[in-house]
Amino acid sequence: ANITFITSDNEKIILEGDSGNVMQLAVNNSVNGIDGDCGGVCSCATCHVFVAEKDIDKVGKASSIEVDMLELADDANEFSRLCCQIEITEAIDGVELTVAK
Ligand code: FES
Repeated sequence: ANITFITSDNEKIILEGDSGNVMQLAVNNSVNGIDGDCGGVCSCATCHVFVAEKDIDKVGKASSIEVDMLELADDANEFSRLCCQIEITEAIDGVELTVAK
């Protein structure tokens, strides 16, 4: 699946992934602003992204554990996801994610 990241410097990075989760793909490709400090177990919020409104149905909303963790991020909104919790499959091809600051 192709995934587009928009960083806080407004850089657009398009990456291709076929397995694992979106945080790993971003960290492996040094996407600025995605740190993945907890290694992808939904307990740090350093992989916070905003899903483009057009893509929220494809990506799905945050789970309840994820919502609890997102409360630590003061800019979280209804499009927020922790991208370690988004599995890469063809179902999310073409989605756009804006990296939270
Ligand atoms: Fe820690 Fe996603 S990497 S919550």
